[in-house]
Amino acid sequence: MPDLETDCDRRVASDSVTKRNRSPRPFPFAGLYAPPVGVRLARFAPTPVSVASAKSSRAKDELTQRTGRFTVAVLVGSLRTGSYTRKIARALIGLAPVNLNCNIVEFADLPLYTEDSDGFPPEAWTRFRSEIRDADAVLIVTPEYNRSVPGGLKNAIDVGSRPPFESVWNGLPAAVVSASPSKVGGFGANHHIRQSLVFLNMPVMQQPEAYLPEVAAMFDDQDRLKSPEARDFLAKVMSSFTDWVMLVHGARSRAGA
Ligand SMILES: Cc1cc2nc3c(=O)[nH]c(=O)nc-3n(C[C@H](O)[C@H](O)[C@H](O)COP(=O)(O)O)c2cc1C
Repeated sequence: MPDLETDCDRRVASDSVTKRNRSPRPFPFAGLYAPPVGVRLARFAPTPVSVASAKSSRAKDELTQRTGRFTVAVLVGSLRTGSYTRKIARALIGLAPVNLNCNIVEFADLPLYTEDSDGFPPEAWTRFRSEIRDADAVLIVTPEYNRSVPGGLKNAIDVGSRPPFESVWNGLPAAVVSASPSKVGGFGANHHIRQSLVFLNMPVMQQPEAYLPEVAAMFDDQDRLKSPEARDFLAKVMSSFTDWVMLVHGARSRAGA
């Protein structure tokens, strides 16, 4: 459709990456259903690369040697003082493997996006876009507002996506972690964000899915994770994300992109 043509649409759309068949992750942090078998992820890998082979230690070593460490922009969807989501983001950052250099990129100061300002962007937009441009990957950690994306986070996504053909998100590997004091774990927000990331041409980690429930009870009074199971799950998210970032960047570098 012509009105949907952006830099996202003009990108490479040739070959694909075959996704390894994985078993469901344990309740309560992961999805309740097994992921589909043989899913193919298109658009960002001109050369076919097997996820299973890229995850072998030799392939990992090669990719690490070639690319070193990766800078990850962490977006926290809540602006609230005392936010549980920010505590989770900090816990994830603390559990990140050494390959990932994670930094929270703030967006509370971004004026609401309007195309009227594309010609003379507010300084805060420029600062935010520059910080995302410096990143190799994006980790979004967010609560759910009214079964969807909190407005501040959506505004940040929109600010980064413009002007047309200058999106700072283009091609960045990403992961989405949602959280809620309720039992549902922010599933609605998580998947609404994924919808935007598809359009922005950001390959998003599929597994493990991370819908964190009952987060009000997750931390002690010194903001430490109370349960070893929660800690193990968050560590698993970060190690899987490291693999994902390496895979995407490795595929791109092999393709010379
Ligand atoms: C405007 C608004 C809408 C909300 N909608 C939802 C919702 O749809 N689902 C949900 O699980 N929690 C919802 N909540 C509750 C939030 O999950 C809760 O306030 C949470 O603590 C926010 O995350 P934070 O602690 O990181 O700020 C909503 C809260 C607000 C302020």
